[in-house]
This record gives sequence, structure tokens and C-alpha cells, in this order.
Amino acid sequence: MEDSALPVAAAPARRAKRAAPAPTVTPAPAHLAAVRGPLLGWYDRNKRDLPWRRTKDPYAIWLSEVMLQQTQVSTVIPYWERFLTRFPTALALAAAPLDDVLAGWKGLGYYSRARNLHRAAQEVVSRFGGRLPATAEELLTLPGFGRYTAGAVASIAFGEEAPLVDGNVARVLSRLFEVEGLPGDREREATLWHLATALVKGERPGDFNQALMEHGATVCRPESPLCLLCPVRDACLAFRKGRVDELPPAKVRATPKKLTLALAVWPHAGTLLFARRADAGLFGGLWELPAAEVDEDLPAPEAATRLAAALGTEVKLEGALGTVKRQLTHRDLTLRLLRVSGPQRPTRTPAFQELRWCTPDEASALGMSTAMQRALDTALASGVLRGG
Ligand code: ADE
Repeated sequence: MEDSALPVAAAPARRAKRAAPAPTVTPAPAHLAAVRGPLLGWYDRNKRDLPWRRTKDPYAIWLSEVMLQQTQVSTVIPYWERFLTRFPTALALAAAPLDDVLAGWKGLGYYSRARNLHRAAQEVVSRFGGRLPATAEELLTLPGFGRYTAGAVASIAFGEEAPLVDGNVARVLSRLFEVEGLPGDREREATLWHLATALVKGERPGDFNQALMEHGATVCRPESPLCLLCPVRDACLAFRKGRVDELPPAKVRATPKKLTLALAVWPHAGTLLFARRADAGLFGGLWELPAAEVDEDLPAPEAATRLAAALGTEVKLEGALGTVKRQLTHRDLTLRLLRVSGPQRPTRTPAFQELRWCTPDEASALGMSTAMQRALDTALASGVLRGG
């Protein structure tokens, strides 16, 4: 039953928000001033010449911030330029089919960013007349905007004194102000946001936020920080106390989970079968060689049976075409390629949003993860389309 069919009285009560813990550090105004001025001056002299720093277009700045969230600057630059050529405004992005947007994102990973960007662009058009709202508070109401993105766009594009904390900023602040606690710790988070809020007040908040991030990326690095070149060394409590190497403490990373997918490689008349995944979950909304999750050592005939169930049709196993392994941040991914055929060629099935029979050329325009692209390359290299 859908929620809307429930009687009003039975609607689930909204869980009360837990109050944010109190910050554990209260900086003296003189300490804030000793950080703010020198860091801004250092940024003016040393900032990298990045393409999104040459524009004032809020949409282009927003796009850069979304791309930079999980991806290095050097990787982002060509993607940002290409994406803007293809979708030059929020209006153009909103009007584009999701498939085109995902195809423009191909290779950047974390595709939920692209889906949220697309949905947010549509809301920018429907709710704000095509122009991004100018305050962090309003930006936070759009899909994909968390505190970081809202602070970044509001301060850089609109000059609001809006704070931001990302991984680099967290490291810089925890050293400067000797903030204890592990990443993810609520008290630590509250303290970092409290410090960022106090520091951003003043002239050029967007430049100041970028100065904090730039400093973390280039000087106050996680390993071997360049303290001798640091413009705010005299204001750094960790430096003064010889604690730079212990702050912040290293995050204990969970070992990535193993995930094995059997992939159907089903050739027919110069085409292969492709499927679009459901929107939720890993690789949500992306295209793939139709996949079914299997145990690591499941024999190929049984893996083919899983594929038959997912495709809702009879499937004959013709042979195994090899394996592709990819290490993702949270997954240890193994893709097992199984060549299959069948008496009927499916065109719809409930397990996938869509099925399509595509030539390799047509498939190159589909939004596909890098892992899946590798699997497809392996399938094609095996000659699966040569001689049917
Ligand atoms: N990381 C993410 N956004 C950034 C920016 N605007 N400047 C420097 N580093 C960043």
C-alpha cells in the first residue's frame, strides 16, 4: 500500500531531530583574526588558476562544487568544461533527458550526484524561474544540496557569509584550533561548523572558504604537511604543541564489501542486450550488460539461471568470457561475463527500468559506469559480435 492510501491518523510520526551537541572550542576573536587575514592574503598570492574561478555564473560554480565533491581537481577540469558545453544553463540541463546527463557524467562515478543535479535543475526552473536561489537556506531545499554545497555556492557565487566544512577544511581547522575527536564524531562536527561559521564572517566570504580548502589541498596536507610554508603557522595550536601528525586522527576505513555480478553477454545481429538499473542503489539509473548478483563461486550454469530470472526469459549458457575486477570505495567488485542466447529476445522485464538491443556504437552514448565499460570492452574483445 502506498503512504497516500493510509488514513491521516496512521501517518508515521516524524522523528524529532536530535539537538546538535555544543561545540567544544570557543575561539578568541584575536585567534580568528590571526587566521582569517593571513589565509586570505596567502590565497590571493597562491591560488591555483582553475576555470571555475574565472566565472561568476552560479550554475557553473554549482556544477564545479558537485563534481569536486568526490573527485580530484585535475580530473574534474575537462568534465566540467565538456558538461557546460553540453548543458550550458540550468534550463538546458533541466530540459535534457536523464540519460544524456548520465552519459555526460560517464567516468566521474558517484552517479547520484548527476541524478540530483538534474532534479535540482528542474526545481530551479519550476520553483525559481531558472535562477539558482542566492542563500544557503534556500539552496538547502534543493535535491543534492547538503550543508557543504549550500555553503560553497552561497558564499562563492553570491557572497553570503555561509560556512562550509569538507574533508580539507576539517583537517585545517582541527589543527589550527586543536579540535579533538574522530571524523564523524558529532561533537567534533559541531565544533568544526561553529569555527567555520565564526571564521567566514567578514570580507570576501567565498574567497575565504576557498582559501581554507586550497590551504588544506596544497599546504596543510594529510601526510607531510608543509608547515614551513604555512601562512598561519603562528596561529596553529597543533604546530605550537607538536601535534600536527596526530590531528586529525586517521579514520578507520571499513573494508570494502565483496560484490559479484554475473553479466549477460547476449549477441544478436550485431547488437548486445543492455539494461537500465532501477534508480535506487549502486549504479542506480545507469546502463549495463544485464546483471544479477551471485555468490562469488556460484557455478556458471546457476549464475545463468539467475540471469534468466532477472530477464524473465529462458536463457542458454554458451560459455564464460572472463572476469573484470574493480575496486570501488565501498565495494570490491567482480563482474563475471557469461555469453548467453535464448529462444526469445526480451524487451521488457520488471527487474530493470528498460531493456535495449544496441550496437557498440549506440552503447557508447549510454550512461554506463567505468566498471561496466571495462566489462563491455572485454566482451567485445572476445569477439562476441564477430560471426554472431
Ligand atoms: N574543493 C571543492 N571546491 C573547491 C574550491 N572552490 N576551491 C578549492 N578546493 C575546492
